[in-house]
Amino acid sequence: MIERPRRLRLNETIRKMTRETRVSSDSLIYPIFIKDGKDIKTEIPSLENQFHWSVDRVSECIESSLNKGINKFLLFGIPDHKDEVGSEAYSENGVVQRGIREIKKNFGSDAFLIADVCMCEYTSHGHCGILDGKYVNNDKTLEYLSKIAVAAAEAGIDMVAPSDMMDGRIAAMRNALDKNGFENTSIMSYAVKYASSFYGPFRDAAGSAPSFGDRKSYQMDYHNVREAVKEALTDEKEGADILMVKPAMSYLDVIKEVKDKTKLPLAAYSVSGEYAMIKAAAKQGLIDEYGIMCESSLAVFRAGADILITYYANELAEAIKRGDIG
Ligand code: PBG
Repeated sequence: MIERPRRLRLNETIRKMTRETRVSSDSLIYPIFIKDGKDIKTEIPSLENQFHWSVDRVSECIESSLNKGINKFLLFGIPDHKDEVGSEAYSENGVVQRGIREIKKNFGSDAFLIADVCMCEYTSHGHCGILDGKYVNNDKTLEYLSKIAVAAAEAGIDMVAPSDMMDGRIAAMRNALDKNGFENTSIMSYAVKYASSFYGPFRDAAGSAPSFGDRKSYQMDYHNVREAVKEALTDEKEGADILMVKPAMSYLDVIKEVKDKTKLPLAAYSVSGEYAMIKAAAKQGLIDEYGIMCESSLAVFRAGADILITYYANELAEAIKRGDIG
């Protein structure tokens, strides 16, 4: 007998009943940029429909997402002041720390907050750590990353997400958090982060492009996938609670491979360049933005991710509500 999957496709109710991949808005995380200053809600030129928010207005952004069913936020800070050691990243009054306190004051546990822990938005040279000449000093950077994680925890963060790619940072941060009484603060590690051109629009948005050189000495080479597994397993052993692969769309094979090899939940970050490409092509009338958003986001889950970090989180939540995906 000839198999006829077509019969299942004839009817929309059956199609929905037999979907192999399920997505819910519980699995989505929305990135937010908090900027020093007052009364700021400014569209980011490189990221259409994404905004810089000042602390006094960021709650508008949170509230609108909560109304759509998105309650997890990845926070990035854009400080006015930058220096060699990125001191605003761990200052009690740094822009993210103030943002966390403001959001928690207004929304409490309704808003789950995740702090991106890195230095590139805060250093005058734009690198993700403390420099020794032309190179980042890995172990010295660990001390600073730990301070940033503790400062975020003191402000009330629920989870930290180190994106720096230094070696040994998960163990260092776990120890620092535990020592300071934050045993319950989770760590989502950007375990598998490639040196990617897809971060371009983010670097424009965050003013975090390196002033010299590139990030290839600490971010991964996109020729490699066994290295991804090694990074993932190392971070698992060091105490990460969730792992991440980044970027997403061009790394679906990596997501699948890492998912097969680790026992931890896996997130994928659909980064700024992926979003900007869809926006740009849609603006020219070349593609259907809504359709591409749904299809490319679903692909990340089909590859094995449990969580998706995306600038489309709000629109996806609406697509899920409509039943177009999920
Ligand atoms: C910080 C960081 C970056 C992104 C997330 N955290 C930039 C980078 O590594 O250059 C990129 C996110 C995006 O492109 O959407 N290190």
